[in-house]
Amino acid sequence: MAETMKAILPGRYPQLVYGDLPRPVPKPGQLLVRVRAAGINRADLVQAAGHYPPPPGESAVLGLEVAGEVVVIGDDVADFAIGDAVFGLVPGGAYAEYCVLDAALAIRKPEVLSWAEAASLPEVWMTVWLNLVELGELQAGQRLLVHAGASGIGAAAIQLGKRLGAVVFATVGSFEKAAWCTALGADRVINYREQDFVLEVKAAGGADLILETVGGDYLGRDQQCLNRDGRLIVIGLLRGTSAELNLGLLLVKRQRVLGSALRSQSLAVKTRLAQALAAHIVPAVVKGALRPSLDRVFAARDVQAAHDYVAQNRNRGKVVLAFD
Ligand SMILES: NC(=O)c1ccc[n+]([C@@H]2O[C@H](COP(=O)([O-])OP(=O)(O)OC[C@H]3O[C@@H](n4cnc5c(N)ncnc54)[C@H](OP(=O)(O)O)[C@@H]3O)[C@@H](O)[C@H]2O)c1
Repeated sequence: MAETMKAILPGRYPQLVYGDLPRPVPKPGQLLVRVRAAGINRADLVQAAGHYPPPPGESAVLGLEVAGEVVVIGDDVADFAIGDAVFGLVPGGAYAEYCVLDAALAIRKPEVLSWAEAASLPEVWMTVWLNLVELGELQAGQRLLVHAGASGIGAAAIQLGKRLGAVVFATVGSFEKAAWCTALGADRVINYREQDFVLEVKAAGGADLILETVGGDYLGRDQQCLNRDGRLIVIGLLRGTSAELNLGLLLVKRQRVLGSALRSQSLAVKTRLAQALAAHIVPAVVKGALRPSLDRVFAARDVQAAHDYVAQNRNRGKVVLAFD
């Protein structure tokens, strides 16, 4: 195996340059994976722009999720063999031919899933499991509002919300995205360019849980349609980092506002979420009961075009990079 590999070079951001880097070496408890596909997430665009550094000690190469074959097994790993097809969440480093993956987070790839489909699963499904099930305590019959319904996260949240028995509302920025979210199972989709989501959600019974993927000025508006004992979970900042809340409403309606981030969670929490993905989501995807929502696959050397596509809000669901 060569000591170097092709990767998107971290020293060149915001330019996405495909070049050569030293191949990483797995530590105890880790696998080295020959990458076949790497999921793209909005966070990668933010990191490339210099605003979302990797956790200390982790790879500066972009990429939070990976699928490929095990080529080296680190010390203290018992459950995997060379050649196993795996996928999983990584703290960085997926935009490369080789990437280290904690064995505790590695999931066996079912044969029916393509590399790209497998690479599209970890970040969004682990995030929505954390926020809808664990933090959001979403119950059957409750009302869930998902902003950016046609994003990678939105597509997973709509489907998980329906699977948990919730009534699901989603907001989107176009007619086409609205139709796409309806096809995924959303009960009511609001095009925010034409309708006021506060009025629409209130008229439909309000929301018990809001997955706030865009933040900023949406928070004050969320509060207006959040029900008594409702939970508002902030996971994205696309509309900005500042918001004005009505504390009177917060108190009287006993609303809860939480912030959440997957990347900074401990390995123990990520392991629990990976187990939930393997036990509850992957079997449903294999059966066709849940969809990976894969939109487009770009060749790794076309990474700039892939990021541009996402930055222009053109994707419906997930975009993935393929490595030869
Ligand atoms: N905290 C966490 O653990 C965590 C984990 C994963 C993702 N996230 C966050 O979740 C969000 C979605 O991530 P993703 O990778 O799934 O995104 P994505 O696929 O890139 O989709 C983002 C969508 O957001 C909408 N949008 C963009 N700017 C907007 C604005 N100013 N106002 C309203 N809508 C806007 C666009 O859809 P329309 O065309 O419909 O407007 C866009 O397509 C991001 O904010 C990301 O950072 C957080």
